[in-house]
Amino acid sequence: MRKFLFLNASTREPGHIGNSETLARRAAAPLSADTKQTWVKLADLELPPFVDLRHTAGTYPMPMADAKSLLDATLAATDLVFVSPVYWFSIPSPLKTYLDHWSAWLRVPGLEFKEAMAGKRLWVIATSGNREKAQPMLDSYRLCAEFLGMQWQEPLWGKGGAPDTVLADGEAMAAAAGYFSGQSA
Ligand SMILES: Cc1cc2nc3c(=O)[nH]c(=O)nc-3n(C[C@H](O)[C@H](O)[C@H](O)COP(=O)(O)O)c2cc1C
Repeated sequence: MRKFLFLNASTREPGHIGNSETLARRAAAPLSADTKQTWVKLADLELPPFVDLRHTAGTYPMPMADAKSLLDATLAATDLVFVSPVYWFSIPSPLKTYLDHWSAWLRVPGLEFKEAMAGKRLWVIATSGNREKAQPMLDSYRLCAEFLGMQWQEPLWGKGGAPDTVLADGEAMAAAAGYFSGQSA
């Protein structure tokens, strides 16, 4: 059974749906009922700041609380979907912190995080003002996927701005409808 984990990196206020989520919801709509969907707004979680223990303790304890829930959801997923605005030509900090924690999870004894991540699909649904300038962020995500042996999927990008701006990007909205099945609508 396919299990999609949608990790929303927007920092819109609670209850406000951003463009990246609007585009991602459109992409998720055709997923079949037997595909499990889990949606997480990363900014709602209390992830501890990442601490680099690589060259001191060398290992990390099993995470606790929200970090443990996020780790469990990550491991359970067959498909990770980064729902991500572009912030300063780069990765928004909630998602960047999540990725930094991958460095810890790689060093939790017995977890075998790298092996568990290998083969999972990584999708990216992004919005920003300018497609060309989103490329460094998209390249970063691709390199992260490659580092862990994940299956990189071509990103879906739409033109964002104020909430609902992406609805006017007809090309992106049409592509969203077939994104996970590989068909453009
Ligand atoms: C802190 C911050 C930095 C941003 N930096 C960029 C940027 O570098 N390039 C760009 O095109 N848009 C930038 N934007 C605009 C957002 O990418 C755009 O509004 C996006 O659609 C927001 O996604 P959301 O509606 O899902 O929250 C920035 C927005 C914020 C809040």
